[in-house]
Amino acid sequence: MKKIGVLTGGGDCPGLNAVIRAVVKAASVKYQCEVIGVEDGFDGLVLPNRMRVLTPWSVRGILPIGGTILGTSNRANPFKYKVKTDDKSEVRDVSREVIKNVQSLGLDALIVIGGDGSLKIAYELFKMGCPVVGVPKTIDNDIMATDVTFGFSTAVETATEALDRLHTTAESHHRVMVVEVMGRYVGWIAVETGIGGGADAILIPEIPYDIEKVCKKIKDRKDTGSKSSIVVIAEGAKPIGGDVSLLSAAESGGSAERLGGIGNMVGDCICKSTEMEVRCVVLGHLQRGGTPDAFDRVLSTRFGVAVVDLIAKKRLGEMVCLRGQKIESVPLSEAVKDQKRVPTEEGLVKTAESIGISFGR
Ligand code: F6P
Repeated sequence: MKKIGVLTGGGDCPGLNAVIRAVVKAASVKYQCEVIGVEDGFDGLVLPNRMRVLTPWSVRGILPIGGTILGTSNRANPFKYKVKTDDKSEVRDVSREVIKNVQSLGLDALIVIGGDGSLKIAYELFKMGCPVVGVPKTIDNDIMATDVTFGFSTAVETATEALDRLHTTAESHHRVMVVEVMGRYVGWIAVETGIGGGADAILIPEIPYDIEKVCKKIKDRKDTGSKSSIVVIAEGAKPIGGDVSLLSAAESGGSAERLGGIGNMVGDCICKSTEMEVRCVVLGHLQRGGTPDAFDRVLSTRFGVAVVDLIAKKRLGEMVCLRGQKIESVPLSEAVKDQKRVPTEEGLVKTAESIGISFGR
């Protein structure tokens, strides 16, 4: 093993830099191996001059820094790559160019640090003969085959702190606060934030809600002396028989489908039904930014070291993962098979319901 590449793809999250740092240090300390940093996700393997050598010196001090020093992109899919010519833009398959670039760089392996989208791309490239390995990242925690992804813990911490702050202002004004958190297709952030931050209702994509049940919960609280309530809602939650709330094309900035607006919709219904004042707070990208907490720093470091070991053992086409307390690996095919959803009849949901938190069902 002489030379490996590393890229970060998809939405950023706290802990990416900690993985990059661990990859560079482990490659250097354990294997005397060179690391090439690929900039802006898969863009860096298509566009010119988007690579640089990473040394232990160049990754000094990045452990506590959010984001990614390599840059990222959640639009650079080599299989459906947008190419702009003078007067038009078209979509091309540039996957063969990507593989050629990996070969001409002489990379023994390319480490893809990404969420479900980037890992699916990595798997497709692997099937075409590209020496790829994966590291699971996302604040959403929705990747199969790993108990947890790095970035999730920090996002939950940020959102929970927001709830602590919102409790005091809600209580003072006798208001209902609706807090919209990230989670396009899964409600992990909403459930953990709701439990950790003492919410009264949690609405998640996995459990379509009945708004009447949510309002009844709030009215019951009011009738028994609680002057304020907190509702945590995942951006991808939807009412029974209804659909998710999408942002307009303009707000999406031309990128893939983006969700948003459900918090305000639920807030309006609660206001009408309970006659209480309601405010909606959308936490949005605050959950993705900032310094990783200690858990994410440690997990990222373990993943970074483990993925370099994986390459040394020639276990290409695999992804590192956390199982219980142990770092293991799984084939990428298994990792991208399905999304990890919140179980609705056990675990966290049942814990929450046992202490009276409503899921609107
Ligand atoms: O996948 C992570 C995520 O944070 C989702 O929860 C959210 O819907 C999305 O990214 C937002 O992406 P963007 O950065 O394109 O707005």
